[in-house]
Amino acid sequence: MSEYKELNFDVHQLTHAELYTPVLEDSVEFFCKVLGMTVVKRDKENEKVYLRAYEDSYNYSLVLTQNDEAGLARVSFRTSSPQALDRTVERIEECGVQGEWVPAEENVGYGKSYIFDDLDGHPVEVYWEVERFVSPESKSSILKNRPQRRPLSGVPVRRIDHINMMTHPDVVTENYEFWRDALGFRLREAVAVEDDKYFATWLSISPLVHEVALMGDELGGHGRLHHLAYWYGMPQHLNDLADICIEYGIPIEAGPLKHGVSQALCMYIIEPGGNRIELFGDSGYLIFEPDWEPKVWSGDETAQAIIWYGGELPETYFRYGTPRIQDETKELNLYYNPIKNALEDENFLSDISDERRREMYHDEK
Ligand SMILES: [Fe+2]
Repeated sequence: MSEYKELNFDVHQLTHAELYTPVLEDSVEFFCKVLGMTVVKRDKENEKVYLRAYEDSYNYSLVLTQNDEAGLARVSFRTSSPQALDRTVERIEECGVQGEWVPAEENVGYGKSYIFDDLDGHPVEVYWEVERFVSPESKSSILKNRPQRRPLSGVPVRRIDHINMMTHPDVVTENYEFWRDALGFRLREAVAVEDDKYFATWLSISPLVHEVALMGDELGGHGRLHHLAYWYGMPQHLNDLADICIEYGIPIEAGPLKHGVSQALCMYIIEPGGNRIELFGDSGYLIFEPDWEPKVWSGDETAQAIIWYGGELPETYFRYGTPRIQDETKELNLYYNPIKNALEDENFLSDISDERRREMYHDEK
């Protein structure tokens, strides 16, 4: 048995992510009308919109920010105490990464934070102090363990689940080691190209199989977003959502399907800004052993690791991410999308939102 390393519980919870979108209002409409999220705040310039799922822990789990390109602006984690925040910052800096403190006044709904880039350039933030969500009377639930009444729009997601960050294939292993050593993430599953050299890793700080995945970017990009995932907890909701997506021309990249890694039931769709969003129908299996032995898939087993059943692995899967890199793969043709043939592939991000807006959001009041 390899030497046992004591677990580090200082980083405790994935709380929110900020995504860039070139079509802010279309993205907001999508998250509200299709995924049933609620806008809790807009900034004065109307360039940032804060949204929550109805069972999210705190005020919001998603910030949408207007930007020329889609992608990840930051992903944020809460530590287990104020001391844990200080210890985490020490470990980050001991690993050779220098970030900066952000004063509480600059953060909406939480206290001072430390923001830094991981080894592939993804912006990551850690913090401790946070404002609790207090539901307005009109949205409160009589179910005591539900922070907000279930919305009536679309098929509402319950909470943020995980984030998958594309990482240059040469950096995946080193970056995983950084997430392990600096932030305490445990390796749960991996695709290995050779012994101890990984193409993809799934990491967690809880019994879930992952809150974070670092997955090889076949186009060799750095710091790109593969997807942000929200949780339903009920597989039937994936079928309901797929039905809506087809009706309204929202591209489904894959699913509903079952993953090999994590065993979760899931599907992937593309929001109007171009970011890939995953929906989890259940939690998959859970891990309770403190000395869990990571489950390692070989490169030959990659397709099965990603899709156990429910379809073929799309050609786009290890290539499409945000910000987008021009690619010969005919991305849009691979999405199960009724308006796909009306659109030019190379205009995917710029043209589709207008088209889709007409298809999706014609007035149904
Ligand atoms: Fe995922």
